[in-house]
Amino acid sequence: MTALNERKVAVVGCGFVGSASAFALMESGLFSEMVLIDVNKEKAEGEALDISHGLPFAKPMQIYAGDYKDAGDAAVVVVTAGAGQKPGETRLDLVKKNVSIFKSIIPEIAKYNTEGILLIVANPVDILTYAAAKLSGFPENRVFGSGTVLDTARFKYLLGEHLSVDSRSVHAFIIGEHGDSEIAAWSSANVSGIPIHDFCEMRGHFEHEKAMKEIAENVKNSAYGIIEKKGATYYGIAMSVRRICEAIIRDEKSILPISSIQHGENGIDDVALSMPAIVGRKGVEGLVPIRLSDKEKEQLKASADTLKKVLDDAL
Ligand SMILES: NC(=O)c1ccc[n+]([C@@H]2O[C@H](COP(=O)([O-])OP(=O)(O)OC[C@H]3O[C@@H](n4cnc5c(N)ncnc54)[C@H](O)[C@@H]3O)[C@@H](O)[C@H]2O)c1
Repeated sequence: MTALNERKVAVVGCGFVGSASAFALMESGLFSEMVLIDVNKEKAEGEALDISHGLPFAKPMQIYAGDYKDAGDAAVVVVTAGAGQKPGETRLDLVKKNVSIFKSIIPEIAKYNTEGILLIVANPVDILTYAAAKLSGFPENRVFGSGTVLDTARFKYLLGEHLSVDSRSVHAFIIGEHGDSEIAAWSSANVSGIPIHDFCEMRGHFEHEKAMKEIAENVKNSAYGIIEKKGATYYGIAMSVRRICEAIIRDEKSILPISSIQHGENGIDDVALSMPAIVGRKGVEGLVPIRLSDKEKEQLKASADTLKKVLDDAL
């Protein structure tokens, strides 16, 4: 058993998402060592050099391209390796390719690293989180996905714009699948404790049904729109990865909608999806049972059923 280096992170997959995440992690100052791993070693080497050249403007750390052995003592292993969506493809279309990549990657990580946290980012993130938990044999609290952390950030951003208020004062979650069946949990949404509809009215917005529909659709379709325009999404997810790592390394016990395997909560069992959870140094320290309306509960169940079908076919 290799002792963990609490200040070390490994990023597996150095494409758009992996390299943007590595850059955000370098800037964060959370780690003093970062290893980049990719099947294309030259790409990992190039990214390590490029990102290192920002260090004189940040905090000292070692950044290098390496192998799975080098990830043996990483406190967090961020897995972004896998094909991304092409224009028009859904996240679930990526299942077969990326499950097969995970079957080669995850056992390699687990061979050298038995104590770290696996943070899954590649898509479909819920399916791959489940697969990673099974393939690694790690306790489930140490294997989770970025889930709807990004969708929730998009949700807060859009609500902040709509209401002309700092998005950090918006408390609202996207839950369920990171994908087409995700749910905007309106019934618990608020701005600094003021129920969302009341705050909307304070800001002169009264057509709640219309606005709710538009904002939730906009969140859900954000990635499609960006992929159509620039081929991939990576800055938003990079900041999400940074935020999750911060919660882990600083043992913040922050409430984040990460994806983890459910065990009967809301009638959902043996499938990974996002619900707000307490995230700290031990990983997922517990789910937070936010209030959901009956309709939201039904939608959540439907989201779980969609994922379960894909899981049954894929694994
Ligand atoms: N969870 C989220 O919110 C979120 C957001 C954006 C993208 N993504 C997902 O992240 C993944 C990566 O997207 P991207 O745009 O960076 O793709 P990309 O094609 O730019 O990068 C993928 C990288 O993985 C590497 N790779 C492939 N097979 C590998 C293997 N067996 N071992 C090691 N490395 C391997 C490739 O060489 C490449 O560098 C995709 O699945 C994408 O859908 C997730």
